[in-house]
Amino acid sequence: MAKDIVVRIGGEGGEGVISTGDMLARSSARAGLEVLTSKTFPAEIKGGYAMYQFRVSAEKILSHGDTFNIFVAFNKEAYEVNKGQLRPGTVLVYDGPGGDIEPEPIEGVIQYQIPMTRISKVDLGSPISKNMVALGAVVELFSFPMESLKELVSNKFKRKGEDVVNVNIKALDSGAEYVRSNIKKTDIFYVQPQKSGQDSIILSGNEAIGLGALVAGCSFFSCYPITPATEIANWLAKYLPKANGVVVQAEDEIASLGQVIGASFAGVKAMTGTSGPGLDLMVELLGFASMSELPIVIADVQRGGPSTGLPTKSEQADLFLAAKGGHGDFPRIVLAAATIEDCFYLTVEAFNLAERYQIPVILLSDGALASRTEKIKRPDLSKIRIVNREAYSGNGEYQRYAVTETGISPISVPGQAGGRYMATGLEHSETSAPKYSSDYHEKMTEKRFRKIATIEDEFPEPESEGDEDGDLGIISWGLTQCAVREAMKECADRGLRVRALYPKLIFPVPVKAIQRFASTVKKVLVPELNYQGQFAELLTTHAGVNAIRFNLYGGLPFTPAQIREKITEVIK
Ligand code: COA
Repeated sequence: MAKDIVVRIGGEGGEGVISTGDMLARSSARAGLEVLTSKTFPAEIKGGYAMYQFRVSAEKILSHGDTFNIFVAFNKEAYEVNKGQLRPGTVLVYDGPGGDIEPEPIEGVIQYQIPMTRISKVDLGSPISKNMVALGAVVELFSFPMESLKELVSNKFKRKGEDVVNVNIKALDSGAEYVRSNIKKTDIFYVQPQKSGQDSIILSGNEAIGLGALVAGCSFFSCYPITPATEIANWLAKYLPKANGVVVQAEDEIASLGQVIGASFAGVKAMTGTSGPGLDLMVELLGFASMSELPIVIADVQRGGPSTGLPTKSEQADLFLAAKGGHGDFPRIVLAAATIEDCFYLTVEAFNLAERYQIPVILLSDGALASRTEKIKRPDLSKIRIVNREAYSGNGEYQRYAVTETGISPISVPGQAGGRYMATGLEHSETSAPKYSSDYHEKMTEKRFRKIATIEDEFPEPESEGDEDGDLGIISWGLTQCAVREAMKECADRGLRVRALYPKLIFPVPVKAIQRFASTVKKVLVPELNYQGQFAELLTTHAGVNAIRFNLYGGLPFTPAQIREKITEVIK
């Protein structure tokens, strides 16, 4: 089996491109293979170019890959969008005769023509099953596991009725049979099931955030549905009630964060999930949560902005908003996930930090990571640290906002004897009574910020890799870290003296770690999926590190090739 294979499927939104890719990826994972997926699709429910890409390998995979080995084209638009990436050694599987694709012969490109439309529409009388004919052909051509696929197809469509399941299974078999009877395989690609000793689970980024919340002890989740964050709510709506938790769909993002703050005041761990436009609306209440020192977690799954922007595309452009958004000075913590495992473990950590520091914690993800699916090692729950807020003991006179050395004050729950206080957005005294004097505003502001003054020392040191002293140091955050990790592998092979730092705590900026790293390299490069170089700007402002900025803002995540090219250019 080739070391790893990248399969890309393209077609029209509504033709079942996403389902086809998802089922191939999951069947490969079940066959013991490492799988990592990415998908991009239009904001429309139907129409427009939808793409699903998955990489499958016997070894651990870091990114969705630079480009594809196999391209499955459902229609002309998909072929036109991707034909530029067909190169010697790649395979094109396309719909024809009877489809709208007439591919130009390209030297070294292997073409397989499969009458997907004719078989589904004419032979089976089920045009929607076109994708299953394609799936059957791909299974036969590249040895994907047919039996687990049939199981996945039955599970996927059983809610649509037995007829739909049966016609789709027929379509699968017809596609496979067509290949057996008409196609002579001339390419090198096939998947080989692996004995995977690892006890693993398959999750998308958003599902992993949901699971992290559940494991952290979250019992209240409220949100207003927004692409690409809604799957977090869908997943929790399925599982949180089983853990005596509650999921609410509020009338808008302001109401949902208000409910989350109320639930935290009532003593439970509470969270919301949203995207940039929703976080914009939440900023005023973010200040309230910080001022009243109530632990809350907000997952912000970034999309292409500003305003409605590109709902189904990716960007890393909410950092300024997350780190600095809101009137007045108030502390918050910002974490950024780079992998599916991060989505799980950093969600747990976000709750731990919120509880410990009684503060809003924003976990940044993005559309590409949210919809990415990957097989990860099943988390060992017995090894996961869970932190709960410092509770009022019930003894002695209670001052909710007692000024302490750490800045953290014990918190009571409503109805607790002797623990009555007012969670207020007004500046207040130790007892929570409103207090507007300058000395008190200064004292309480310092108290609130003192809570996180030493967070860098209490948070795990950012991971780094590469030569001890390099010509170039790369500092990246979020999903971009995956493309950097893969590019770093090749740098080592090419003997390039490059180092990389992978912070997860993004704000407050881990100044000491950043400065230590920067002092070991000649130049610093910060690749980000945004126009303004938001993290690079924070590094300059907070750590005095002036980095070379590498900014992409086309709505698609970095590929390892783009990072490699930039490294070569900068090192030269
Ligand atoms: N037989 C029967 N049904 C089938 C099928 C088959 N062979 N293949 C696919 N389908 C169904 C799928 O089950 C799905 O229906 P469901 O949603 O009820 O499950 C539907 O057809 C779409 O298939 P899917 O594979 O999920 O997606 P697609 O590749 O056709 O692309 C999307 C459609 C995903 C682009 C579109 O549905 C979407 O979600 N667009 C984005 C919307 C959005 O977020 N907009 C932004 C708002 S701000």
